[in-house]
Amino acid sequence: MVQSLASLLAIASLAVSSASAVVYSPNGGKPVIERPSIKAWPLHPGKPHAASPARDPDKYCFVKPSCKSDDDAANILKAFQTCNHGGTVVLDADYTIGSPLDLTFLDGVDVAISGTISFSGDVDYWVEHSFKYAYQVSSAFWRFGGRDVNIYGNGVGLINGNGQPWYDAFAANASLQRPILLVLDGLNGGSWFNLIANSSDIIVSDMDIKVGSTSKNPAKNTDGWDTYRSDSIVIQSSTINNGDDCVSFKPNSTNIVVQNLHCNGSHGISVGSLGQYIGEYDVVENVTVYDISMSNASDGARIKVWPGNYTPFQPGLSGGGGSGHVRNVTYDTVHNTNNDWAVELTQCYGQSNQTLCNLYPSNMTISDVVFKNMWGTTSKKYDPKVGTLVCSSPEKCLNIRAENITVTPPSGKTATWVCTNMDNSLLDISCIV
Ligand SMILES: *[C@@H]1O[C@H](CO)[C@@H](O)[C@H](O)[C@H]1NC(C)=O
Ligand SMILES: *[C@@H]1O[C@H](CO)[C@@H](O)[C@H](O)[C@H]1NC(C)=O
Ligand SMILES: *[C@@H]1O[C@H](CO)[C@@H](O)[C@H](O)[C@H]1NC(C)=O
Ligand SMILES: *[C@@H]1O[C@H](CO)[C@@H](O)[C@H](O)[C@H]1NC(C)=O
Ligand SMILES: *[C@@H]1O[C@H](CO)[C@@H](O)[C@H](O)[C@H]1NC(C)=O
Ligand SMILES: *[C@@H]1O[C@H](CO)[C@@H](O)[C@H](O)[C@H]1NC(C)=O
Ligand SMILES: *[C@@H]1O[C@H](CO)[C@@H](O)[C@H](O)[C@H]1NC(C)=O
Ligand SMILES: *[C@@H]1O[C@H](CO)[C@@H](O)[C@H](O)[C@H]1NC(C)=O
Ligand SMILES: *[C@@H]1O[C@H](CO)[C@@H](O)[C@H](O)[C@H]1NC(C)=O
Ligand SMILES: *[C@@H]1O[C@H](CO)[C@@H](O)[C@H](O)[C@H]1NC(C)=O
Repeated sequence: MVQSLASLLAIASLAVSSASAVVYSPNGGKPVIERPSIKAWPLHPGKPHAASPARDPDKYCFVKPSCKSDDDAANILKAFQTCNHGGTVVLDADYTIGSPLDLTFLDGVDVAISGTISFSGDVDYWVEHSFKYAYQVSSAFWRFGGRDVNIYGNGVGLINGNGQPWYDAFAANASLQRPILLVLDGLNGGSWFNLIANSSDIIVSDMDIKVGSTSKNPAKNTDGWDTYRSDSIVIQSSTINNGDDCVSFKPNSTNIVVQNLHCNGSHGISVGSLGQYIGEYDVVENVTVYDISMSNASDGARIKVWPGNYTPFQPGLSGGGGSGHVRNVTYDTVHNTNNDWAVELTQCYGQSNQTLCNLYPSNMTISDVVFKNMWGTTSKKYDPKVGTLVCSSPEKCLNIRAENITVTPPSGKTATWVCTNMDNSLLDISCIV
């Protein structure tokens, strides 16, 4: 399940704010939830994000759930058209979205979700009608873009991707194109989402994401958060229960801070995979991952890069030969519980034969990486090994450091590490070959 993308069931909840003037909804007379105040904390990615002005207290668009049809997309779209430029769209009832919703024209609008938004489970319809993206054959039910948008749920809002029919259909068709729950495409200034693409100055905070299947068919390719072609992004103070990357930094992710996350059951917090496509240049630069609790995952901290030649890996997943660089990535303060590897860095992604990997070193350079302040216990899987750092050539990995790492294997033996083509003098861990 390395291919990433597509989280189909998520529960959104944002911090509760203190109320001042109360506005009541005509959908049952409940008070409308207020925009919480969210800051990047304790770290931030460099230049501060612009403040978002308060919205017009007289400009609320309440969306009435349709009683006749099972698709509220048209009414939701109308509300955004009316309340754009300074208003607040209120979604405080139960809605179903049964057709694609393009919200990429937004400019200064708040979205208060205290109700439930569900997506219809008509797999055949969505496969035909979802928004399609070239990158990793991804697609979306709805998408948000524009500038200065705040989306909040204050601990009660819920977005239900209705993943079960997708997990079941995918078990029968492994090339089924499954939509990503939430896509921010070209949003500048705003808070939250699942795929953050073509966007800048975004803070995601206090989200609770859950993915799970209730049938025998597993929920696959369920990344918590992916960033792609995006700059100045913060993802913080959230809980993610899933089975693929908890957070992953795809090509051209820059100036990113990920902090105070609880991840369970994932593939870790991952840079990559990168270098997948020949002729493309991928950049991941200035990433700090801080204060993470990682449990039941295949990896804690992970950097995965394809080797220098085309490599078939799994059905529907192959790549390699692309170029680029990973520079200035820090993983600091990570508590490990039952993860297979505490740290996995590889430039041989998709190629388990080290001889072949060394023959075609990666066209991606990895430099200025620090793994530090990590503790806890791994799973039994590779005991007594707890981490692996594998470069395709000593010239392709520069200044990779490991400091103050006390992660132990469950057997209590001395923790060992696989270190290949690394400068071992910078690694304060016990490397075996
Ligand atoms: C499997 O899914 C793909 C992509 O969504 C689709 O093109 C193909 O027709 C499906 N195959 C079957 C047997 O339904
Ligand atoms: C991002 O922008 C590029 C270039 O405009 C576009 O091709 C792509 O569809 C956009 N969205 C995603 C998710 O890649
Ligand atoms: C990523 O950035 C590099 C360098 O700026 C550029 O050459 C490349 O086209 C970008 N890739 C994508 C997918 O946007
Ligand atoms: C954590 O993930 C495991 C599977 O790896 C699952 O069994 C468990 O229920 C999850 N914990 C929570 C709190 O959801
Ligand atoms: C490394 O990245 C962090 C943000 O993640 C940034 O604060 C720092 O200035 C960067 N350092 C260098 C030397 O670029
Ligand atoms: C990374 O951070 C450094 C130091 O702040 C900055 O000079 C550089 O431009 C940043 N890189 C990118 C790609 O933004
Ligand atoms: C890890 O998984 C075990 C068993 O699957 C579960 O009991 C435990 O709660 C999980 N840890 C977390 C932090 O969810
Ligand atoms: C790895 O590749 C080399 C070169 O092709 C080959 O000689 C060797 O048998 C391979 N090793 C394994 C374990 O497949
Ligand atoms: C990628 O790496 C291969 C093998 O090391 C090399 O032959 C090729 O020239 C490289 N391509 C680029 C664009 O650097
Ligand atoms: C080493 O990491 C531990 C967490 O495992 C932390 O409490 C301690 O302060 C760190 N020591 C140094 C010297 O940074």
